[in-house]
Amino acid sequence: MSNIIEVSNLTKSYKELTAVDDLSFEVYEGEILGLLGPNGSGKSTTINCILSLLNFSNGSIKIFGEEMKPDSYGIKEKIGVVFQEVSVFDELTVYENIDYFCGLYVKDKEKRKEYVEDAINLVGLMDFKKFYPKKLSGGLLRRLNIACGIAHKPKLIFLDEPTVAVDPQSRNNILDGIKKLRDEGATIVYTTHYMEEVEILCDRVIILDKGKVLAKGTCDELKELAKIEEKISVEVNKLDNKYVEEIKNLDNVADVSYNGNVLLIVYEKGKNNLSDIMGLLKKENIKYNKIYSERPTLNDVFLELTGKELRD
Ligand SMILES: Nc1ncnc2c1ncn2[C@@H]1O[C@H](COP(=O)(O)OP(=O)(O)O)[C@@H](O)[C@H]1O
Ligand SMILES: [Mg+2]
Repeated sequence: MSNIIEVSNLTKSYKELTAVDDLSFEVYEGEILGLLGPNGSGKSTTINCILSLLNFSNGSIKIFGEEMKPDSYGIKEKIGVVFQEVSVFDELTVYENIDYFCGLYVKDKEKRKEYVEDAINLVGLMDFKKFYPKKLSGGLLRRLNIACGIAHKPKLIFLDEPTVAVDPQSRNNILDGIKKLRDEGATIVYTTHYMEEVEILCDRVIILDKGKVLAKGTCDELKELAKIEEKISVEVNKLDNKYVEEIKNLDNVADVSYNGNVLLIVYEKGKNNLSDIMGLLKKENIKYNKIYSERPTLNDVFLELTGKELRD
């Protein structure tokens, strides 16, 4: 697999603040790479440095094997960018907006028509072609913003938090569309602070905090970093406190709590946790309703690495 992007020792400061701190990573051809980090962790700054929109004090950026510079127009035309802030023309319709952005790269009229239709279909704006942006809901406007960024069928696509404040239907549409772009051959860099999104979307994830790489790998690899193995919740209407203490002393148990009819047991690495707890409930004749087990999430990993939650 070849590297489409190579970021080496990138450092970017705004006066005293180091927004990106000696960051190195690669993006492989054909993957969706997620940059996951809380607000202010340096995701947008990283993207803007990669695109040569910001200058930086240290480091180097290679795209398609070549050094990226502000005048690397040959590289830039193979890139599509969807910025965090929606940027479309209010005086142009949905169709005209997409046609305009596509026309910056695709001069052939017939080809452009086809590309614009493809983009409209990808984001599901078929019924809104003649609408002006002001008439679109927040979710549809985001979808238009995405269509404008990807209509020229770029090989490499950057999407900076494209689902913030959109309705669930638009979010699903956007995530499906991004997968489709990857399946059609694009390489994608996707930033978000929603761990659920990287779980369903990204082939690999880099967790960022304070401009540094905290961890990188597939979601499964990252979850291996969590010291906990699983969380088991048992709905119990009544539970004597002595059982909470007893469970605390079972093998592999890291933490136990009993709140609002839910007994939550956090297990360290180990096997047969569920059958252990079922055995105890049966032995003590404790009545329970639902019982379910959850694997650690990326938020658990982030919490262990930083002591704080992904979401502020
Ligand atoms: N133009 C700027 N001037 C000064 N500080 C900035 C500027 N842009 C971003 N920052 C700061 O740099 C840090 C990283 O910001 P940013 O890259 O926007 O993070 P993210 O995209 O992960 O939310 C934050 O502390 C932010 O306040
Ligand atoms: Mg940002």
